[in-house]
Amino acid sequence: ASSKKRSYDIVTLTTWLLKQEQAGVIDNEMTIVLASISTACKQIASLVQRAPISNLTGVQGAVNVQGEDQKKLDVVSNEVFSNCLRSSGRTGVIASEEEDVPVAVEENYSGNYVVVFDPLDGSSNIDAAVSTGSIFGIYSPNDECLVDADDDNGTLDSVEQRCIVNVCQPGSNLLAAGYCMYSSSVIFVLTVGTGVYVFTLDPMYGEFVLTQEKVQIPKAGKIYAFNEGNYALWDDKLKKYVDSLKEPGDSGKPYSARYIGSLVGDFHRTLLYGGIYGYPRDKKSKNGKLRLLYECAPMSFIVEQAGGKGSDGHQRILDITPTEIHQRVPLYIGSVEEVDKVEKFLA
Ligand code: AHG
Ligand code: MN
Ligand code: MN
Ligand code: MN
Repeated sequence: ASSKKRSYDIVTLTTWLLKQEQAGVIDNEMTIVLASISTACKQIASLVQRAPISNLTGVQGAVNVQGEDQKKLDVVSNEVFSNCLRSSGRTGVIASEEEDVPVAVEENYSGNYVVVFDPLDGSSNIDAAVSTGSIFGIYSPNDECLVDADDDNGTLDSVEQRCIVNVCQPGSNLLAAGYCMYSSSVIFVLTVGTGVYVFTLDPMYGEFVLTQEKVQIPKAGKIYAFNEGNYALWDDKLKKYVDSLKEPGDSGKPYSARYIGSLVGDFHRTLLYGGIYGYPRDKKSKNGKLRLLYECAPMSFIVEQAGGKGSDGHQRILDITPTEIHQRVPLYIGSVEEVDKVEKFLA
């Protein structure tokens, strides 16, 4: 048979999800949640691509719980994500970078899944049309008594408390994680625990099309992504590590520095090309900048599914149980040999 791809060879995200459901890899509720997330990402992709036209660049004028000046698109993409999850009728609790506390889905038909997400990652890049993304993770409920609409004995704090209990789970409990990158292509990356799958949005008919399956990150790589503007604030051991990358070494060539300023963009390049992304702690930010729940844990699940490693410099990210929703941790993520190397310097 000719090796030419025939149109019916195309696997869309929709058909891929149905195949996973038929194979019993995911249940029908998870299928619906993931489909609703992909819809949210398509909507955000179009908002991002037309931001300068629809006056959606610039700041909203509010400060979020992170202490960041919210961009207009931070707020809009958070609403798009939340609305898609609510209307899916299959989510019980959602936690977002842009929400102070986790929110119980009060629709009269809510489901059980717990979804954590960063609706717009790298939002400082929006006004310059540089890559941004959305990141998400999905958990089962942490207790049987998930918030439900007619919760009659819950006062606010117990409902809120139960939401926090449901959300504060270690990344090792993740059932699914993924991201959508809004770049020269719109790329949807997903794992449900059976490897990493990459889909590319075909704008001709608005579907994500499977373009890579069971991605394996190279064991080593010669690209490092750190914001060296913080060099003066780093621990001495970390300075020595980064300095070592600049020596030609036995390969005769030093590493290359690449830094996009969006975790999603820097991570996706690292996943495909190999290397390391790091956001260390420093004298100003004792725990670094990135948030464990909806940035570090989902990315670490994905990288491990691709044969890579996600560490806080000393321990596996997926082993860390959050004690608060917006907790920050240092992150070193990418090729196994590269993360091993930085851990040795930091020991
Ligand atoms: P967010 O836009 O969701 O707040 O995340 C921004 C994060 C991450 O995407 C990126 O790698 C990092 O902040 C960049 O931080 P610096 O600008 O301090 O390097
Ligand atoms: Mn932010
Ligand atoms: Mn982010
Ligand atoms: Mn964000």
